[in-house]
Amino acid sequence: MNYQSVFIDEAILEIHYIPDKILHRDSELQRLRSLFDNIVTAPYEMSQKAVIVGNVGSGKTVLANAYGRELREKAERRKLDFHYIHVNCRQRRGSLFMVLSQVVTRIRPDFPERGYSANELLDILRQILDEEETQILLVLDEVDALINNEGSDALYYLTRFHETTPDEPRRLNLLCISKDAEVFRKLDKSTLSSLQRNIIRMPDYNKYQLADILRYRMERAFRPDAVPLEIIDFISEVAEKENGDARQAISILHGAGLEADNDGSRQVKPEHARRIAVGVYDGVVVPDEIKHLSQHEKLTLLGISRFFLSSTAPEATTGEIEESYHLVCEEYYEKPRGHTQFWKYLKKLDNLDFVSIQMHASSQGRTQHISLDKIPAKTLQEKVEELL
Ligand SMILES: Nc1ncnc2c1ncn2[C@@H]1O[C@H](COP(=O)(O)OP(=O)(O)OP(=O)(O)O)[C@@H](O)[C@H]1O
Ligand SMILES: [Mg+2]
Repeated sequence: MNYQSVFIDEAILEIHYIPDKILHRDSELQRLRSLFDNIVTAPYEMSQKAVIVGNVGSGKTVLANAYGRELREKAERRKLDFHYIHVNCRQRRGSLFMVLSQVVTRIRPDFPERGYSANELLDILRQILDEEETQILLVLDEVDALINNEGSDALYYLTRFHETTPDEPRRLNLLCISKDAEVFRKLDKSTLSSLQRNIIRMPDYNKYQLADILRYRMERAFRPDAVPLEIIDFISEVAEKENGDARQAISILHGAGLEADNDGSRQVKPEHARRIAVGVYDGVVVPDEIKHLSQHEKLTLLGISRFFLSSTAPEATTGEIEESYHLVCEEYYEKPRGHTQFWKYLKKLDNLDFVSIQMHASSQGRTQHISLDKIPAKTLQEKVEELL
């Protein structure tokens, strides 16, 4: 990392990093505590089961891991034996056998993985837990992969782990995580009902919550002043439109930082964030619709892209764009149209997916703020110039 880098600790933006604080998930975290803290307060008495559901990037995995870390600390303080075991079922190809062998080797690292069936592994797990006199919180992340692959059976066995030995200590607790709540319908009625009692729903983040999450990371990962707050706002708005995906938000911030470093810029600029945000939208190319714009609509669009190429502001006023439009007209030997007509062009461009015009009320009356998302100004400029 060169001395100019915008980063001070890039690892904080990595996907598996667990922040010290999980923001805006207080009630969900509280729910987890009230369900699973029994593991340390009343050990071996209950075998709790719960489900977390929520959209992509809503913080399901990180919440479970942060709680796991907390519970491990609580257990340590009480000198209680406890394992928090997080398994990604998709990575284990949805196979109960592969899930269980990961669990078993977490407790007994030298356990030979081969030569057993899934059912045998279940018995072995029971036996090992008894021998070690321990208890586990097993997180089945992306459990939809397990259900889709194994049908009802896998969860049927796991939720009934203690059923045949009701007088023995309870050692297995289960937390299932899924993006898709529908997948649970595939379970048999009784398995479903045992999970359904404790469902934690993660609502989508809005842009303010995303901004808080981003700011927290930004303050730790970047040099002070390397990321202007308007960048955070810009990224939050982009990610809000993507169902509040916090992963995407963090990854845009990370990518924008790398772009800034590439440019040798000591600050992250909106253009850097925009360049990365493009990749976020599936294969964004400049949409064909712009071919059908009139000459002056195209000139206005070029004015917008020129403005954002030279400015670091995330938004422009109508006046600024009009000025830029006039310069563009000069360049193309076109007579600029009057203000009212210009206005109509802008309104037409607002219909484009990547241009947005927002009304802001202020003491001076109402002003329009024009912004460009999803598309880097440079890409747009090139495309419009081609068409003109
Ligand atoms: N409330 C939060 N506070 C801090 N960081 C968060 C929060 N929510 C999510 N993140 C971060 O956003 C990213 C995505 O979160 P996470 O991986 O937990 O999402 P997920 O719900 O498991 O998504 P998926 O369904 O795709 O697995 C992670 O880097 C995580 O650390
Ligand atoms: Mg996840």
